[in-house]
Amino acid sequence: MFRIAPSILSADFAMLGKEVRDVIAAGADWIHFDVMDNHYVPNLTIGPGVAAAIKPHCVTPDGRPVPLDVHLMVQPVDALAVAFAEAGADLITFHPDAERHVDRTLQLIRDAGCRAGLVFNPATPLDVLDWVIDKVDIVLLMSVNPGFGGQSFIESTYRKIEAARKRIDATGRDIRLEVDGGIKVSNIARVAAAGADTFVAGSAIFNEPDYASVIDAMRANMAAE
Ligand code: DX5
Ligand code: ZN
Repeated sequence: MFRIAPSILSADFAMLGKEVRDVIAAGADWIHFDVMDNHYVPNLTIGPGVAAAIKPHCVTPDGRPVPLDVHLMVQPVDALAVAFAEAGADLITFHPDAERHVDRTLQLIRDAGCRAGLVFNPATPLDVLDWVIDKVDIVLLMSVNPGFGGQSFIESTYRKIEAARKRIDATGRDIRLEVDGGIKVSNIARVAAAGADTFVAGSAIFNEPDYASVIDAMRANMAAE
């Protein structure tokens, strides 16, 4: 089952609650929440207080909860991961190169009641998965360098998606393979064909007036593949 996770980084921050409700009504499966600290990445965004404020809006019009997918681009990770779990995150992903004790951080996130994931930058190898994949619920591959929305998809990601898919299938476990950055209606089918099942899209959705038409076109292109 494919999941579309709009990144609210490209939403109108002056009306985030409405943006979250609108994009869910338009068909979003998860809400992707980008946390940047001006240290791990050269940009500064939103914290646990904002996550807590939008959490009540993470629900479909007929009352089903929509997972809040928190992508931490911060260093260090542990204290903020706990704060986001308390703020209502359902999934928390972090960059393994941003925290010294990756195994411990994964365990911390799971102990806090969330699904835990690792994020790999375009030049970061997947090797750490050899040792911790049993504690991983999501593998998130960056298809741009983290820090900003609206960048172009990096081609080598297709090969990396294939490599990550093999590792995940070898476990036999239900691990999501999410891709983040530069995903659009025009390339999402190829990203899916390479093996991804969860797609983050910020500017492609929020920079258009009709969110539903973008999400529908993404699903139609994946179905046609
Ligand atoms: C980038 C963020 C992304 C970003 C994607 O560091 O992790 O989630 O919002 O934006 P687009 O879809 O515009 O590339
Ligand atoms: Zn992200």
